[in-house]
Amino acid sequence: MSTSLYDVIERRRDVRAEFTGSPVPDAVLHRVLEAAHRAPSVGMTQPWDFVLVRDPGLRRRFRDHVATERDTFAASLPPERRTAFDRIKVEGICESSLGVVVTHSQARGGTHVLGRHAIADAGLYSTVLAIQNLWLAATAEGLGLGWVSFYREDFLRSLLGIPADVRPVAWLCLGTVSHLETVPDLERHGWRSRRPLADAIHEDTWQARETDHA
Ligand SMILES: Cc1cc2nc3c(=O)[nH]c(=O)nc-3n(C[C@H](O)[C@H](O)[C@H](O)COP(=O)(O)O)c2cc1C
Repeated sequence: MSTSLYDVIERRRDVRAEFTGSPVPDAVLHRVLEAAHRAPSVGMTQPWDFVLVRDPGLRRRFRDHVATERDTFAASLPPERRTAFDRIKVEGICESSLGVVVTHSQARGGTHVLGRHAIADAGLYSTVLAIQNLWLAATAEGLGLGWVSFYREDFLRSLLGIPADVRPVAWLCLGTVSHLETVPDLERHGWRSRRPLADAIHEDTWQARETDHA
């Protein structure tokens, strides 16, 4: 398996159905978390934390909450979208080896955060970069990772005892996999296709594109 950066970026997939549930060796998990912790961060705040969730009871309770939120979203869809959505699995919470909940603390770094005075979201961007590092490192290790966002932040805070001023940004299903698909699930199931790179590139000023609002 090649671990060149471009190859890992190409192989990375959001995983839901391919988890095998075997344990991830501690040394491998540590390397992946180390990679996440090396992410750049505004004012060097490192505003992230990682809650490792292995307890089956906690995972089942979160899975049930996600199922309710999935139903809420499904109920908002017109019939043809509903049919497409019904085919799509949105989580592998109990089947993965463990959950990694990545949190964001806007309070970290105190009041004078270098680079965040004009753009408060720069803090959140930093935490998301840690997630991307984690995702790519997991892929390089031959693991799968799936991001779950079908949840209410207050539910997850209370489930895991996360303080009120800390945001749970993602529940990441992490673990051993049978394989990684080569085409994203949403594309395979006819929900949505990728936008051409050419549409996303603008020279000097913004050019309107047909896919801007598609
Ligand atoms: C912020 C964010 C939230 C996501 N939430 C979910 C989710 O709740 N359930 C899910 O199945 N996939 C989720 N995904 C995965 C996307 O659907 C996936 O990245 C996209 O379809 C492209 O597929 P790929 O990651 O395999 O290339 C999320 C991705 C991101 C970046």
